Amino acid sequence: MYTAPQNALPSNFMPTTESNPSDPVLDSLLEQARQAALNSYSPYSCFRVGAALKLTNGAVVTGTNVENVSYGLTICAERSALVAAISQFGPQVRVEAVAVANLNNAASPPCGACRQVLAEFVLPEAPVIFPGADGPRTMPFSGIFPLAFEMKLK
Ligand code: THU
Repeated sequence: MYTAPQNALPSNFMPTTESNPSDPVLDSLLEQARQAALNSYSPYSCFRVGAALKLTNGAVVTGTNVENVSYGLTICAERSALVAAISQFGPQVRVEAVAVANLNNAASPPCGACRQVLAEFVLPEAPVIFPGADGPRTMPFSGIFPLAFEMKLK
């Protein structure tokens, strides 16, 4: 079982009160994210993460986290999936739903770096389903990343 390091602050993305009505499309996407996590290369953290992206072209593309001995070169499951999607279908891809799973029975919303990277391709209203404190939690992408950095030069 994964235990957060002592110096990790509690996440404020884990309210326990909201209900999460189940949706068959998201449930299937979550299962594909779980399957992707089986391929995780995570010998340093032992935290096995999978992501599945549903694209507007109907395809589902998955990814997993790939760690590196340098630690900082690790790529998260969400970015791994996004890079795969663009590699397969090109830069016009748009993501209409995101699922994140881990095999460690721990809460894991997408990290900040992944949110910023996903922001260039995800529809604002796209649901993001991720492991919350009490099971899967769903929020619109715009809800988990309300103030994306954009470069609008004058
Ligand atoms: N990780 C992800 O794959 N996605 C996230 O959003 C957060 C963290 C991975 C990176 C690293 O391999 C492990 O989880 C522990 O941080």
